[in-house]
Amino acid sequence: MLKLKVNGKERRFNGPPFRRLIDVLREEFGLTGTKEGCGEGECGACTVLIDGEPVNSCLVPVCQAEGSKIETIESLGTPKKLNALQQSFLEKGGAQCGICTPGMLMTAWSWVRRGGSAEPCAIRNALAGNLCRCTGYQHIVDSVAAAVSKSKGRKKMAWLLALGLTPMLAHARSEAPWTTRRSEVVGAQIDAPEDWRQENGDRVIRLLPPDARDTGASITVSRQPGGLDQAANVSKAAISSQGGKIKEEKNETIAGHTARTLVFLTVDGLPVRGKMSFIDLGGRTLMVDCEANKRDYGKYEATFNKAIASLTPIGPSAVPVAKNAAPAERTPAPLETPAAPAAGSVSEKWAKHRDNRVRIFASAPADWEAKATDGRILGSRASFLFMHPADWQRTHARIAVFSRDGSLEEARAWAKEAVLGLQGGKIQRGVAVKLPSGRTGYVMVFNEKSGRDAELGILTLIASSGRTIIADCRAKAKDFASFNDAFNRAVESIQEYGKP
Ligand code: FES
Ligand code: FES
Repeated sequence: MLKLKVNGKERRFNGPPFRRLIDVLREEFGLTGTKEGCGEGECGACTVLIDGEPVNSCLVPVCQAEGSKIETIESLGTPKKLNALQQSFLEKGGAQCGICTPGMLMTAWSWVRRGGSAEPCAIRNALAGNLCRCTGYQHIVDSVAAAVSKSKGRKKMAWLLALGLTPMLAHARSEAPWTTRRSEVVGAQIDAPEDWRQENGDRVIRLLPPDARDTGASITVSRQPGGLDQAANVSKAAISSQGGKIKEEKNETIAGHTARTLVFLTVDGLPVRGKMSFIDLGGRTLMVDCEANKRDYGKYEATFNKAIASLTPIGPSAVPVAKNAAPAERTPAPLETPAAPAAGSVSEKWAKHRDNRVRIFASAPADWEAKATDGRILGSRASFLFMHPADWQRTHARIAVFSRDGSLEEARAWAKEAVLGLQGGKIQRGVAVKLPSGRTGYVMVFNEKSGRDAELGILTLIASSGRTIIADCRAKAKDFASFNDAFNRAVESIQEYGKP
């Protein structure tokens, strides 16, 4: 027997604990104001508040809400007595067909109630997980902005009556101490609240608040291979391949540098909301990835914004740019060209393909094996450079680099056919990219099966004169993320030698 507190009333549910919360609310408790749209966590129509935070009730097993305070659309107002936000939607035309409206209202209500801003951009960000197919969003944003302004007016009066105590507390919170974290390896420093712990990885600065385990909140700063476009495109492809959605993409200036920000939603057990900012430092790209469980994101948004604004490059390749200066002219990032190994040798970090038909160098981590081989790759007979980590039998992680005669267009058509011909082959996404060397490329993310194991792969096609170079990076889907960095670096390192 599960005990729930719904709209202020104690409710009991005696049934399967993994039944969806939306079904229990609608079918057991008769609260049919909550609507189902997609049933997959995409549209937000089913949003309810759990302990004040918006969640997609179609994704929450009812047992997860036990003991929590649940609020549905029925808690807001009645047809005869609408609450201030509902009244605002009515006056400003924030609802048309109404299918998104209950979810939209609940997300907006949590924003209004927590004192969110009336800025249109901030409201759009707060409502990013709620889709509407009718209104074009502007009327919804206007409705929420009007409700925020009214509510702030009322609160200001209450504060005055309360002798200004609340503003003093708010001020004290904003003055909480922050400290600077830095990493020479990443080549950056960033500020974060003092009580956040820092877990530096090999190539990341990772910052976690004290409640990270519950909220999933984190800030990660990492150095990305390639220029701004490539780094953003690869991340977009990775988000899509994991079933996530890009909600917004915008160019902006961060700490005086040209940057691109992606706002995304994805699912990692719970729905996760986040934003990744790619910052162009003229020759290298830094990524700041701020994310948290969707229901907790609002709590950290101001911290995320303040941390991103504090990002400062350090190290020998840092390009000092005055804050608020005009963004520097973008120059293509130079590709670091490694020294070619001696003919016929396989150095500690580099393997040289021995087949003159291919003529490609590519790097792999020191403990990976690399060899030139002939065989079938993606259904075609070819000569290729094959690299894999020591545990590849378990993880299936490997990189094959080879080439095909013909243009990038022809290679794209071939790759599509080749991937669809794999066992369980499914193309998740394909995007055109500009590589750091200035060459044109194409990245395709795909799934396949190896026996019973799901695999994830990324093909990078690189246009060359008269041929296309192809890097095929694959691993078991559950292990892919742990090789992502090695895969990216290997692809970035590809060099040609001699005449094709
Ligand atoms: S019904 Fe679409 S997110 Fe739940
Ligand atoms: S009002 Fe129709 S989907 Fe939003």
